[in-house]
Amino acid sequence: EASDLGAWPHYMIKEINEAADAVRNVAAMSHETFAPAVERLADSDIALVGAGSSHYVCMLGQYFFHQIAGRRATCHSADEFMNLARLDADSILISISQSGETYDTLRVMEYAQADGAKLVSINNVAGSTAQRMSDFPILQGAGREVCVLSTKSVVSQTAIAWRLAAELAANGRPADMGDLTALAAQLDLLVQGLSPTIRDVAERYRWIEHWFFLGRGIHWPVAAESALKFKEVSYIHAEAMPAGFLKHGTISLIDEKFFTVAFIPNAQHDPESFAHVVSSLHEIAARGGNIIGFGHDLPSTFPEGLLEAYIELPSVSKFMDPIIQLVAGELFAYHGAVKLGRNIDRPRALAKAVTVR
Ligand code: AGP
Repeated sequence: EASDLGAWPHYMIKEINEAADAVRNVAAMSHETFAPAVERLADSDIALVGAGSSHYVCMLGQYFFHQIAGRRATCHSADEFMNLARLDADSILISISQSGETYDTLRVMEYAQADGAKLVSINNVAGSTAQRMSDFPILQGAGREVCVLSTKSVVSQTAIAWRLAAELAANGRPADMGDLTALAAQLDLLVQGLSPTIRDVAERYRWIEHWFFLGRGIHWPVAAESALKFKEVSYIHAEAMPAGFLKHGTISLIDEKFFTVAFIPNAQHDPESFAHVVSSLHEIAARGGNIIGFGHDLPSTFPEGLLEAYIELPSVSKFMDPIIQLVAGELFAYHGAVKLGRNIDRPRALAKAVTVR
């Protein structure tokens, strides 16, 4: 098969660089594309399902529905969904899957459909099983993703999940796409301008064997997805958790050999989460742990020396920030793994679509 890599060394970095276009595509989708699904969402119990990275996008969607549209949404990983929730004719299931062929996700869809629930599907592969099964199929249009690791498709799914919540909150009127358009411009700046800075940090600490990835609120799914990406491609142990969970046990792991990646929220967007994350970081530093922070406009009161390394990311609006931070996490995973000589586009043991039980 002919390669369309051009001058790129790997599909992973090529596709990370296509994230901004993936977002522009979502901003350009018409209000009418979403209207039928959104009309149904307005009157239904909402559930979200996906596997792996797509599950973490569902988690982000859960925050969006709650914080933007004031709606509660059930969300479980596809492999456990049926042990935890049963849907009915008053329900709508939003399934998220790049391939549209993931066995666990399709199975939940089948059960939900048999119980009378309606299906919304967000997929990148046109004509996939999930698209064909759905009442309201939404095609991501992010372009073919070749690397086994999902990067641009995660970004595009997150933008669509945000858009569903924003359209629902807009109550029949078209949602404002200004934030998505501004995000796309900042993503271009991030992947072009900041990639060398992120590469330097990732290369410097590539030998560290144990990592925490921490976030709070909408940054918690970002930490979870970034740790998954990091593990998949670097084969290094990383554990993701909400910043508030640390003090309930895992903090005993911290010593000077332990590193933490912190996805720090913008203090102006969410002062409470910001203060909470900073207090968790103090707890880590007090035990000799080292911290790499991704953040924005740290206030002048931010303690000097708390972070071993800090990467200042472009500022965007509150609900776009997880996407900026996701892409920063993808670059961090990529550059460390390249330096370690890993098989970037086909990491060991992984397949692009997990179509088996
Ligand atoms: C992502 O980097 C992974 N390779 C994996 O977790 C993936 O997201 C998962 O298997 C779900 O795939 P899907 O989106 O095609 O359903």
